[in-house]
Amino acid sequence: MSTLLDHEQLVLRRGTRSGLPIAVAVHSSVLGQPLGGCRMRPYADWCAAVDDALRLSTAMTYKCAVSGLDHGGAKAVVALGGPLGGPDRRRVFLDVGDVVESMGGAYATGPDIGTTPLDMVTIAERTRHVFCLPAGNGGSGDSSPPTARGVRAAIRATLAHRFGSPDPAGRRCTIIGLGAVGALVAEELADAGAKLTVTDVDPARCGLADRLGAVWRSPVDALHAPADLLIPAAVGGLLTAELVAGLSCAAIVGPANNQLATDPVAELLHARGILWVPDYVASAGGVIHATAVELRRRSPAEALAEVDGIGHTVAAILSAAEHTGTPPHRAALVRAQARLAATGTRVD
Ligand code: PHE
Repeated sequence: MSTLLDHEQLVLRRGTRSGLPIAVAVHSSVLGQPLGGCRMRPYADWCAAVDDALRLSTAMTYKCAVSGLDHGGAKAVVALGGPLGGPDRRRVFLDVGDVVESMGGAYATGPDIGTTPLDMVTIAERTRHVFCLPAGNGGSGDSSPPTARGVRAAIRATLAHRFGSPDPAGRRCTIIGLGAVGALVAEELADAGAKLTVTDVDPARCGLADRLGAVWRSPVDALHAPADLLIPAAVGGLLTAELVAGLSCAAIVGPANNQLATDPVAELLHARGILWVPDYVASAGGVIHATAVELRRRSPAEALAEVDGIGHTVAAILSAAEHTGTPPHRAALVRAQARLAATGTRVD
């Protein structure tokens, strides 16, 4: 992270009911109202949670910009101290709702790792700036299926670029993380006939591997397994310089946010001839779908077509990268920054 704050706002509160640290980072409102999910997980300390909110909100700015959305980037993070019981859970999300409401529309939240559409219902008791309530409560529902659908489009575009065919049949695909989105991507790839290797930090997820006919490996072994595609679908920071030196995959594309441990790792991947599709491009399905349904009033079919558009974005980025001789992460950044620069000027 740079030593200068390049975010518009950072709000840090201790929840009045839950006592937990709640951080909201607003990176940019240049393209419109800043959006980003609310992540809840254990952190070493609240500083680590703030750091995550800062990084994740920056990624949301690029995600919205590159996806053509008129929204800025933000993120909320709740730092857990231990396991949460039912009544505690309600307290946390009433607290989150209060923090969001206090920002007066400068941030709208949604689900993310560790939070669900039902948690959004609790948040909605305190603020209207919340996406992805269940359909029965007037929202667009769980963002995991559209996120997984966007990943499918990104995978197919990546396969087409790298191997000449978008078809996953027979391709060796390794999925790191079988959470809400990773499990859906695994099912989809198994149906499509891919040769799957999967892993998760939770050994209980091995049952899904059996059901799908996938090979289960420990996280370390899975990462080093030879593969056509490596699909990061867990928390961020997976791609370190050390790991990249030992990878044997042709391309990396997946829904995890902030996959790079540090920015220069993107150059290392390029130098090793591994195609890396930036995470903020591949993971945009959830936010595209939620805004299409809830704000742009698109029909279900139209909203899914917008999500499938991620395939065109990935194809355009990969071919621009090839034609200009730059790595894909630079081509993606150029696209996102062009949109940000074209839309007004921020008065700093
Ligand atoms: N969790 C989503 C992401 O990381 C964010 C999101 C925000 C999804 C609002 C839906 C609605 O992209």
